[in-house]
Amino acid sequence: MNICVVGCGYVGLVTAACLAHIGHRVTGVDVDEDKVAALTVGQLHIYEPGLRELVQQNLLTDRLAFHCRPARAVESASAIFICVGTPPKPSGDADTSQVEAAVRAMGGYLNRGYKVVVNKSTVPIGSANWVATLIAEAAGAKQGVSFDVVSNPEFLREGSAIADTLHPDRIVVGTDSPAALEVMRRLYAPIVEQRFPHGDPCPAGRGSPHWMETDPTSAEVIKYASNAFLATKISFINEIANVCEAVGANVKEVSRGMGLDPRIGPQFLSAGLGWGGSCFRKDVSALAYIAREYGCTTRILDATLAVNEDQRARVVRKLQGELQILKGKTITLFGLSFKPNTDDCRDSPALAIAKRLLELGCKVKAHDPRAEAVAAQEVPAILMADDPIGAATDADAVVLATEWPELVGLDYRQVASVMRGRLVVDARNALDPRKLAAAGLKLVGMGR
Ligand SMILES: NC(=O)c1ccc[n+]([C@@H]2O[C@H](COP(=O)([O-])OP(=O)(O)OC[C@H]3O[C@@H](n4cnc5c(N)ncnc54)[C@H](O)[C@@H]3O)[C@@H](O)[C@H]2O)c1
Repeated sequence: MNICVVGCGYVGLVTAACLAHIGHRVTGVDVDEDKVAALTVGQLHIYEPGLRELVQQNLLTDRLAFHCRPARAVESASAIFICVGTPPKPSGDADTSQVEAAVRAMGGYLNRGYKVVVNKSTVPIGSANWVATLIAEAAGAKQGVSFDVVSNPEFLREGSAIADTLHPDRIVVGTDSPAALEVMRRLYAPIVEQRFPHGDPCPAGRGSPHWMETDPTSAEVIKYASNAFLATKISFINEIANVCEAVGANVKEVSRGMGLDPRIGPQFLSAGLGWGGSCFRKDVSALAYIAREYGCTTRILDATLAVNEDQRARVVRKLQGELQILKGKTITLFGLSFKPNTDDCRDSPALAIAKRLLELGCKVKAHDPRAEAVAAQEVPAILMADDPIGAATDADAVVLATEWPELVGLDYRQVASVMRGRLVVDARNALDPRKLAAAGLKLVGMGR
């Protein structure tokens, strides 16, 4: 099948590469000419494990190509995936201007046969109808325009995006059109049947995904509600962590005991610095905004956001509690990306802490295995070090802000030998207290 993917960021590029890998002919379209020029020769602007290899491999077979202009790719495609960004507005509402521009740009080229336009971007509830209206406007009086809009939300996680795309838990397809459903079933058949004619780059052994057909509005709500639930689960355990700290319990033990109940499950029960990334805050805020527009109250969503914000402040308060005056102190952050195995720093808790410490007059040093260049663009005042030992040198305290395995597994005796102070704040509850104690360091965790 010929497929066009509009937007080649974290979601679009993974989608394009994976759809090419399962045998489709895919053109990725992006407005950023530099990105497209680099992608055309197999150079990526983002880090995602295995993605560069997958892109390069599929470029060589001609199943994958990149362009700046949508015209030819849209004309020849049976399905057009919208994967552009939907960042938050200050009001919390999603900014859909990228979606609007992308749809208007391609709307004029939909006149050759029936096409399915697939909303993969996370969009406000009701967007399937809105996109259909935009396309109809852009197509104007052109003859032969025949299309349906499908809501097909994306659930991939950065850091394991290829495995999540080729071995998803579920594929949700929201449409009322039998013709669109047929196209979507054919398009996803290799993933549903777990058939990989060109090999499986990350055999995950998760079995066949659930295939869920539903109406477009329910599909749109499924995406927002899923992210809101995951964010709430983390905020919940963080609130419990704070209770544990007050009463002298260990939240890691509490999580372990709670997670053994299959109704609760162990995932997303790690207390710490809280969530970040491009999606959770934006999607929880957008859902709350939409709910309010319809006269619904959002007490749980509001609390989820507030608890998460407070976790970041809590780490700074721990540093103040231990070191008193922070002005003039050197604080080292281990990790800057919002989570391990990605260079994505959007709404990174580590960067929020860095900014606050800089406001308080600290010298902030940092090391991250992948995200230093991206982080330096957002917070240029952080002093980056090529390795963790360089970053920890002369530090009054170290904060483990992102639990990269190479930072968790460091020799903390060596870290201790270069630090000025003794304090390590383990904002991810990932370090082994015995090892830190053996290194002569004082470990302060989150709820333990
Ligand atoms: N990143 C994730 O983990 C994730 C997971 C699930 C869903 N989502 C959703 O997927 C969508 C995309 O997220 P992302 O992280 O890939 O964003 P991103 O910012 O990394 O990528 C968006 C891309 O779209 C391009 N673009 C913008 N306007 C365009 C236009 N008019 N035509 C063509 N290209 C255009 C940009 O240049 C950029 O490359 C968002 O709605 C997001 O909420 C993201």
